[in-house]
Amino acid sequence: MKQQVRWLAMHGVVRATSRLLARRGDPQGRMIADPAVRANPAAFTDELRAMGPIVKCRLMYITVDHQIANDLLRSDDFQVIAMGSSMPKPLQWVIDRTDPGLLHPIEPPSMLAVEPPQHTRYRKLVSSVFTTRAVAALRDRVQDTANALLDDLANDAGTVDIVERYCSQLPVTIIGDILGVPDEARPRILEFGEMGAPSLDMGVSWKQYRQIYRGIEGFNDWLSNHLRELRRNPGDDLMSQIIQASDEGERLSHEELLATAGLVLAAGFETTVNLLGNGIRMLLDTPEHLETLAVRPEMWPTAVEEILRLDSPVQMTARVAAKDTDLAGTTVRRGEGIIIYLAGANRDPKVFADPHRFDIERENAGKHLSFSGGRHFCLGAALARAEGEVGLRTFFERFPDARLGGVGTRRDTRVLRGWSSLPITLGKARTPVGS
Ligand code: HEM
Repeated sequence: MKQQVRWLAMHGVVRATSRLLARRGDPQGRMIADPAVRANPAAFTDELRAMGPIVKCRLMYITVDHQIANDLLRSDDFQVIAMGSSMPKPLQWVIDRTDPGLLHPIEPPSMLAVEPPQHTRYRKLVSSVFTTRAVAALRDRVQDTANALLDDLANDAGTVDIVERYCSQLPVTIIGDILGVPDEARPRILEFGEMGAPSLDMGVSWKQYRQIYRGIEGFNDWLSNHLRELRRNPGDDLMSQIIQASDEGERLSHEELLATAGLVLAAGFETTVNLLGNGIRMLLDTPEHLETLAVRPEMWPTAVEEILRLDSPVQMTARVAAKDTDLAGTTVRRGEGIIIYLAGANRDPKVFADPHRFDIERENAGKHLSFSGGRHFCLGAALARAEGEVGLRTFFERFPDARLGGVGTRRDTRVLRGWSSLPITLGKARTPVGS
């Protein structure tokens, strides 16, 4: 009953309002309630662009303008929004009183939902062990893992769901190693992740909410035990180092540590799986690019940036104005929220010539905002890029004849964008390069 009341206050009202608003053409209402928007976000962001740099909707503003998005992400006048905190006061009252006390990726003390000085403490702690050197050292591990997963696939030769067998396995194995997750726990982690993925969305259904709740609950219990175990029995993984650094320096409470570790773990596989799936699909649709990449493998890093730009695994984020602020001639009042549509900014023709074209040689592809910007810039960007490059290159080197084996299904999420299943007919496997 308590859960139902919470869902109603947090999502149910927004869901019903959005449907109504969508029927009246309100862009944010459509973004939440119209399946056509999820099916073709690029067409929707073009519509938004034609409405101006800042679009006022009934509940919030939206921008798809690259310059404004970039400035907003770096501005101290705009802050991150905790899930539910932008609701009207009576709903907020209900939300506060029905708090189940579980960690949530966009509720404090998650790094994504707090600002300095709290944010600086958490971020400093993770960056102190998640250094450029540590990530560079992981590249070989990414290669070994990709090889092992593809060896396994080579025995199958038929049609496989590449998301299940490869795109989800690679990131969860790597982040699992980093965080000292035992091999046997990985399938459960993936399951919690799949259940919790829509937790970033607004206006989810009661059915989705219950599933998210179960996923988050399972994840909480598992992670709590895992941290306790690592504290008793530290390994040489980064999570043990984070715990040690917290004990010796920043002194995070158990809840803060749980939220920080949980975010790194979940962000580590919930997003990169989409980069790999989106990339495989986009490249299979453009064999001419695969031909270029086969003879010029040094193009892979740019190709990955272009995939991130055109099919962004994280489509949007949001901020709230900390004070009345002028944005491109519009005054955004203190407390008003704005959706920063990263995927829309990534197709801004003022920055990217012929923005809908998939061009693996695009010189400024890396100017995309898919990893956000400013103080919340993705902490795992270097690792995600390494997984994208190594993961995609190795797949196409091993299976040069791979082709689509069915239509595939998109994930039923709005903030995260990727494939939940993608059937691929592998064809004959080549022996690994260098062996
Ligand atoms: C393609 C893969 C990825 C994408 C597209 C992505 C995207 C993002 C975005 C857009 C944000 C910021 C959201 C905001 O500004 O509100 C973010 C933050 C974050 N990401 Fe990633 N991410 C990816 C992979 C990873 C990986 C592999 C890790 C961990 C190893 C990770 C860890 C984090 C963390 C900890 C934050 C919070 C940073 C902060 O708030 O200061 N991400 N990511």
